[in-house]
Amino acid sequence: TITPVILCGGSGTRLWPLSRKSYPKQFAHILGDESLLQACAKRLSGGSRGVSFAAPLVLTNSDFRFMVTEQLLECGIDPGAILIEPEARNTGPAILAAALHAAETDPDAILLVAPSDHVIPDHDAFHAAVAAGVKAVEAGRLVTFGISPTYPETGYGYLDLAARPDDTGAAIELNRFVEKPDAATAADMLKAGHYLWNGGIFLFAARDIIAAYKAHSPNMIPAVKDAVSGAQADLGFLRLDSGAWGRAESISIDFAVMEKADNLSVVPFTGHWSDLGSWAAVLRESTQDENGVATSGPTTAIDCSNSLLRSENDGLQLVGVGLENIMVVAMPDAVLVADMNRTQDVGKVVKTLRDKK
Ligand code: GDD
Ligand code: MG
Repeated sequence: TITPVILCGGSGTRLWPLSRKSYPKQFAHILGDESLLQACAKRLSGGSRGVSFAAPLVLTNSDFRFMVTEQLLECGIDPGAILIEPEARNTGPAILAAALHAAETDPDAILLVAPSDHVIPDHDAFHAAVAAGVKAVEAGRLVTFGISPTYPETGYGYLDLAARPDDTGAAIELNRFVEKPDAATAADMLKAGHYLWNGGIFLFAARDIIAAYKAHSPNMIPAVKDAVSGAQADLGFLRLDSGAWGRAESISIDFAVMEKADNLSVVPFTGHWSDLGSWAAVLRESTQDENGVATSGPTTAIDCSNSLLRSENDGLQLVGVGLENIMVVAMPDAVLVADMNRTQDVGKVVKTLRDKK
């Protein structure tokens, strides 16, 4: 069996004002009637295509711990173990903590690390990709899942495959992993045609990823080891030691390990995949009318095109007339109106508002 490791500690500021400090996007019902976390946990429970999942290991922070349990129980999933990070220090330390914790009971445990904010509707196709990944993991590889790029996104990692994908779906070795390239490099890689996006989902044996940290990010080991061995059980949660955790470098696993590792393999994933990282992505993933308009809540769109209108207030009618390329999200205490091409900048709103206080 595979143990899912669900990353549930991000703040999702680019989906403000639906995503809030006290209620980040992974808990919100952005598409359909389950939260992104619930959709993620369901995708990684049970199993098909020869893979089967154990109860998940969830990494989150203190503020969200009850929300995690409540949401998992609500959709019938055993919350498994919940590790609490005393503060967010990015995915590098978080994933190492999960691996060290899992290795205490089984160093050969196979871990599937997954962000809680992705959209992957085809579970069967995803499980088939995981099954292909397991074969590579059994040969000691660190596996990531590759997505065909559609535009030169600078917020993703890029995978330079050593060979062309064939139709068996088997894992392919990687020449190079390039995390978050600048715009020119991203455009070049898109043009080159053989790069895939890093899907941000990883599969490996606990023992192998720990060895990779030892080789490529050795300074992180002592702090995270101490944080895990000094963890306190607290109402069924496992709270990492905060003194030790504070000494771990805040860096993503992509920069800390994946860019440097020489035993990476990629399983190309051809099913639908989306990182709901911005309102533009939410519009793309939503049901739209023939003019590309998506509405939710009490809203009316008249002669609008390529726009997103969303009211989270039962008592507030949101009406758009003649809008083009505009998004409006109305919450009880905040309304965001933005140009659809500027949705990456919504993350700055939170900082601007904080500085004003
Ligand atoms: N528990 C925990 N603690 N989770 C965290 C933390 C943390 O400190 N920081 C981030 N996360 C969670 C986020 O909520 C998200 O679910 C996941 O980890 C990935 O973090 P992001 O910050 O969203 O990463 P990214 O999107 O910029 O980049 C990663 O994903 C891309 C694909 O979506 C990289 O792996 C890229 O290479 C990849 O292309
Ligand atoms: Mg992301």
